[in-house]
Amino acid sequence: MAEDMEWKKAHYAFKSRWDRTDDDMCRNSMSFFLHKTIRNDFFSSYLFLLERLPLVKLFTLTSEVINGEIQFYARAKRFYEEVPATEEGMMGDFLELNSIDVEASSTFLRRFVGGPGKADTKYALDCGCGIGRVTRHVLLPVFSSVDVVDMMDNFLFEALSYIGKDVTKVKDYFCFALQDFTPPIKKYDVIWIQWVTGHLTDKDLMGFLIKCKCSLKVDGVIIIKDNISRQGCVLDQTDSSVIRDIEILRNIIAKTDLEIICVEKQLDIPEQFVPMWMLALK
Ligand SMILES: C[S@@+](CC[C@H](N)C(=O)[O-])C[C@H]1O[C@@H](n2cnc3c(N)ncnc32)[C@H](O)[C@@H]1O
Repeated sequence: MAEDMEWKKAHYAFKSRWDRTDDDMCRNSMSFFLHKTIRNDFFSSYLFLLERLPLVKLFTLTSEVINGEIQFYARAKRFYEEVPATEEGMMGDFLELNSIDVEASSTFLRRFVGGPGKADTKYALDCGCGIGRVTRHVLLPVFSSVDVVDMMDNFLFEALSYIGKDVTKVKDYFCFALQDFTPPIKKYDVIWIQWVTGHLTDKDLMGFLIKCKCSLKVDGVIIIKDNISRQGCVLDQTDSSVIRDIEILRNIIAKTDLEIICVEKQLDIPEQFVPMWMLALK
C-alpha cells in the first residue's frame, strides 16, 4: 500500500508538470504507470496460480531447461531419425547394460503379476518401445499379448523381425508420439514405460500417465523405468530429453492420482552411468 502511494505520488508529480512538458514526457509518465499496473496484475495472477496449482512450479522447471516445447519434441524426432534400429541404438551404445537391465526388469515385474490381487498376465503395452527390446526380453515371456507404441515407424517396422518367434503375440503397433496417444480404455494388465519419460514435458507426462491409468484393467500396474538425476532437472542435449530427480518424478505422479507402490534402484550400474530406477504405480 505504502509502495503504491509512492508510485502514485511520482505519477502526480509528473502530471502536475504536464502543462510545462512536451508530449514525450507525458507519454513516458503514462507508460510508467501502465507498466506498473501490468506488472502487478501479472504477479498476482502468477501467485494465484502457484497457490491453486502447485504443478505450475514443475512446468516452470521443465520449460526452464528445454527452451521451447515444440523445439524439444522436434529435436528428439531429428535425433531418432539418425539412430540405428538396433539394440545398440536403443541402449544409446551401452549394450553392456542390456542383460543387467533385462534381468532386473523381469524380477521387478514378477512381483506385480500372477496371483491374487496382482495384475493378470493377459495383455501388456510397451510405451516408447523402439525395436521391441523390452517387449521381446521382458514382456513376451510373461504376457499372452502385447501392444507396442513408438513415434518412429522404422523402429516399429524393425520390431517385426527383431522380436523373433513370439512376434505373433504382438497385436497392435501404434505409431504415435506418447503426448498425442490415448491408449484404449481398460485394456492392459501392465503398461511398461522405459527410457521415454524424459522425452515428455512435465505436463505431457502427467497427462499421459492419467490416460494410462484409464487404460489399466483391475489390479493393473504401470511400470516406469528411467534414468534419474541426482538432483534437479537436467537437459540432455544429445537426444533432447530431460533427466529428472526422483522428487520431481514423484511430484508429477502425485498429480495423477496414481499411487507409487514400489520404488527400486537398478543395481550393478557402473558409477559412470546415470542411476536408473524402477517405479510401480497403481
Ligand atoms: C532410448 S530408446 C528406448 C527404447 C525402449 N524403451 C528400450 O528400452 O529399449 C527411446 C525410444 O523412445 C521413443 N520416443 C522418444 N520420444 C518419444 C515420444 N515423444 N513419443 C513416443 N516415443 C518416443 C524413441 O523413438 C525410442 O524408440
